[in-house]
Amino acid sequence: AVSHLQRSCSWRTLRCRHTMNSSSTLLDADHITSTLAQQGWCVTPDFVNTTTWHVLAAEANQRWAQQEFHAAHIGIGHSRKADTAIRGDSIAWIEHDAPSAAQAAYITQLEHLRLAVNQELFLGAFDLELHFARYPIGARYSKHLDRHAHTQARVLSCILYLNQDWQNKDGGQLRIYTAADDAQRYTDIMPRGGTLVTFLSGDFHHEVLPAHRPRLSITGWMRARC
Ligand code: OGA
Ligand code: MN
Repeated sequence: AVSHLQRSCSWRTLRCRHTMNSSSTLLDADHITSTLAQQGWCVTPDFVNTTTWHVLAAEANQRWAQQEFHAAHIGIGHSRKADTAIRGDSIAWIEHDAPSAAQAAYITQLEHLRLAVNQELFLGAFDLELHFARYPIGARYSKHLDRHAHTQARVLSCILYLNQDWQNKDGGQLRIYTAADDAQRYTDIMPRGGTLVTFLSGDFHHEVLPAHRPRLSITGWMRARC
C-alpha cells in the first residue's frame, strides 16, 4: 500500500514539468467532459498522437520481454487472487517519478482532463494510477465494476489502447453495459491504437471479450481522496 501511494502522489508535480502545448488537447478534454456529463462514458479516437502510442506500445513490449509484467489480481485484501478464468491479463505499473517522454505526454493529456472533469463534474480527482496491461490470445476480463466495494477512491477509468491495425475479426472488444438495470444494453469498443475510453468508475459494468491477438493498453484510474 505504501508503494502504491508513492506511485500516485508524484503525479501532481508532473504538470509543472511538461508544457501544455496543443489546443486540440483542451478541446478533447472539454468534449470528453461534456460527454461524460451526458452519458457517463466516452470514446475518443486519437487522444494521443500516433508517435506517442507507438512508443508506448514499444515500451510495453520491451517491459514484457524483460518479464516485468505479472498476472493481474482480482479483489483486494483477503479475497485478492489471480484467476485467469475471470481475468487473464498481465500488468506492469507505470511509475510516476520517472516517466518516459511518451508516458509524460500521455500523463499531461490526462492532467488536462483531470482539471476539466473536476471543474465541470466535481469528481475531486486528485491522483492517478496507471499500468500497462497485456491480454494474451484468448484472455478475457469478465463483467465487473472498477470501483471496489471497500473504497470509493476510483472515480474515472481511463484506458488508452496501443494496438496497431486492429480489425473487427481480432475481437478483444471492451463491452460497456450502458444501462445499469439492463444486461442487454451495451456498446462494444475496439481497442484501436490511440483511442481513449473513459467512464465513471462507479457506474458502469464492463468486460473485455477474448481477443485473437495479444492486446495491449494502458489502464488507469483517476482517484479521489477518501
Ligand atoms: C480493467 C478493464 C478494460 C480494457 O483493467 O479493469 O476493465 O478494455 N480494462 O482493457
Ligand atoms: Mn475494468
